[in-house]
Amino acid sequence: MNASDEIRKRIELLREEIESHDYAYYIKNDPVVTDSQYDALMQELRDLEAAHPEIPSENSPTQRVGTKPDQAFAEVRHAQPMLSLNNAFDQGEAREFDRRTRQTLEAESIEYVVEPKIDGLAVSIVYENGQLVRGATRGDGETGEDVTANVRTIRSIPLRLRMAEVPELLEVRGEVYMSITGFGKLNQERKDADEKLYVNPRNAAAGSLRQLDPKITSDRPLDAILYSIAQIRGVELPSSHFDQIQWLRESGFRTSQEIRRVAGMEECLRRYDELLNQRDSLPYEIDGVVYKVDDLELQNQLGFITRAPRWAIAHKFPAQEEVTTVVDIDVQIGRTGAVTPVARLNPVFVGGVTVSNATLHNEDEIRRLDVRVGDTVVVRRAGDVIPEVVSVQLDKRPEESHEYEMPERCPVCDSAIERGEDESVARCTGKLICASQIKEGIWHFASRKALNIEGLGKVLISQLIDRKMIQDASDLYLLNVEKLADLDRMGEKSAQNVVDEINKSKETTLARFLFALGISQVGEATAVALAKRFGTLEKLQQADIEKLSEVPDVGPIVAASINSFFAQEKNQRIIEQLLERGVLLQNVDAETAATSEGGEFYGKTVVLTGTLESMARGEATTRLRSAGASVTSSVSRKTDFVVVGSDPGSKARKAEDLGIKVLSEQEFLNLLDSG
Ligand code: IVH
Repeated sequence: MNASDEIRKRIELLREEIESHDYAYYIKNDPVVTDSQYDALMQELRDLEAAHPEIPSENSPTQRVGTKPDQAFAEVRHAQPMLSLNNAFDQGEAREFDRRTRQTLEAESIEYVVEPKIDGLAVSIVYENGQLVRGATRGDGETGEDVTANVRTIRSIPLRLRMAEVPELLEVRGEVYMSITGFGKLNQERKDADEKLYVNPRNAAAGSLRQLDPKITSDRPLDAILYSIAQIRGVELPSSHFDQIQWLRESGFRTSQEIRRVAGMEECLRRYDELLNQRDSLPYEIDGVVYKVDDLELQNQLGFITRAPRWAIAHKFPAQEEVTTVVDIDVQIGRTGAVTPVARLNPVFVGGVTVSNATLHNEDEIRRLDVRVGDTVVVRRAGDVIPEVVSVQLDKRPEESHEYEMPERCPVCDSAIERGEDESVARCTGKLICASQIKEGIWHFASRKALNIEGLGKVLISQLIDRKMIQDASDLYLLNVEKLADLDRMGEKSAQNVVDEINKSKETTLARFLFALGISQVGEATAVALAKRFGTLEKLQQADIEKLSEVPDVGPIVAASINSFFAQEKNQRIIEQLLERGVLLQNVDAETAATSEGGEFYGKTVVLTGTLESMARGEATTRLRSAGASVTSSVSRKTDFVVVGSDPGSKARKAEDLGIKVLSEQEFLNLLDSG
């Protein structure tokens, strides 16, 4: 049987359409069809290809995942060596690089391109006559491994080039990486399946790209960003690095959104600061920025030294992982009694601060890592996340070492420690008598997002409890300067400050107050939603489980927890005392909710995604909340609106799939104004 021209045409049309949807989804982050529409196109194409095996389908979108696992990766000799970069660890070294470069070129100032240095692994991808023919790892720079089958599974890498003028030969290079969320999900799946965890996104990306079975790679959340053209034949390219990146982008490749062309080193350093500040909000890990001389002719003049170009340098960020040793392991008892094992470390500078404690999370985690006193460990501190131990270097383990045993009794109150059958956390059963739980509870009460009592830190709270000067949060409002001035390291002036801060905290909102109480399952967002719905503390206290469940994001478990909290006599007593002793809940939340009653957003649940042009996300959240909406982070069936800015993530697609109303920024602004 031979396919008619019509079928050939239909197949080609489907392929092109799917390719353009892939481009919209994986590169532009701006999907135009729903998942189910996409799946239907894919199914039609698969069926047609199966019915017409005589039509070549080599680089069809249906052929991303090859079938047969390889025995081993073949060696690939790179046409041009894949170089590495020299590093600058501070501004001085970066300026020194600039000085040398200007000297060599006899130039006063140089145009640089500044790019994020993505923490993944380098790949080379070759296209012949527009068809992807090979993907290879860097290897030792001269020879890498042929990972074509795996590179093909990365959806943002085109299998065929779609541009007006197709080069005979094109070799592009870039970084394959795993996004931070992708990494988290993968490790969670591995944990659930009792498999070994990857220690960081870079390891996970490397491990995934080097799977012998491309089916496995295909299930891994890999992505790629391209940063250079190593070879081209048949097409004339622009003569600057920056313009070549634009060319790559226009040719359908994914490139970094963060690339900038700047004049001179001082602007490079400014951009470094910007990216360092954004580090924790980028979707992938970066370990520094790269400065590259923009003009390719000048790059040529500068040339190479051994394995690195003279025209580029990596200006590194502070490392987020360092090696140190474990001096001791003990446990901390949290506000809810949760027992957290903590490694006491030889102090180490990591993620920009000196770290001497790292969390070991829970008993299972200690078992998994098998951390022991005396061990040499890798400690990680990324952003504001609590430092953690990610791995043990077993080859450095001292001869005499023992597995760590979790204590059976609370080291603070000597109550039994218990762990429920399906629970990962063990808890101290001391509740009301455990000084640690009480201290943590008061610290939470005073924390910034709760009653915000500045200067009331852990050390001070600890003394107040140990000396029986307070028993619960309501006793804070009985403290005065004389009492406080008795404490260690407390002069009259600081005592006065603390008292002033405590007094200042009396005037607060219902939402903050609810959060401060530390009701199990009630975080900041839920507290706001509860305040909005009930307006006053009395109404909330009277609400039954059914009424509570009507609040957005409050399910039966949360509702039951709130209900049982208010039913306990001790909690009632503390709340009464707080109010008697001067805590004043301005029911502002209820008032603003009342004035905006009838507005479009009143009582609605809204999710924001992508970047808004007219205001920061924080402001959008505030305005929505004062219009009576509750703003949540993930799209579910309870969501009423999803506001979509530019470069939205998967939330926009999910909203569409669930049939939730999607608002453009303009529609969002109109509705806000009309309310
Ligand atoms: S350019 C000749 N640009 O860093 C220069 N490399 O230490 C070759 N990397 O192997 C590399 N982001 O894996 C360049 N924007 C970027 C990069 C980048 C990450 C990696 C790459 C390379 C290593 C060099």
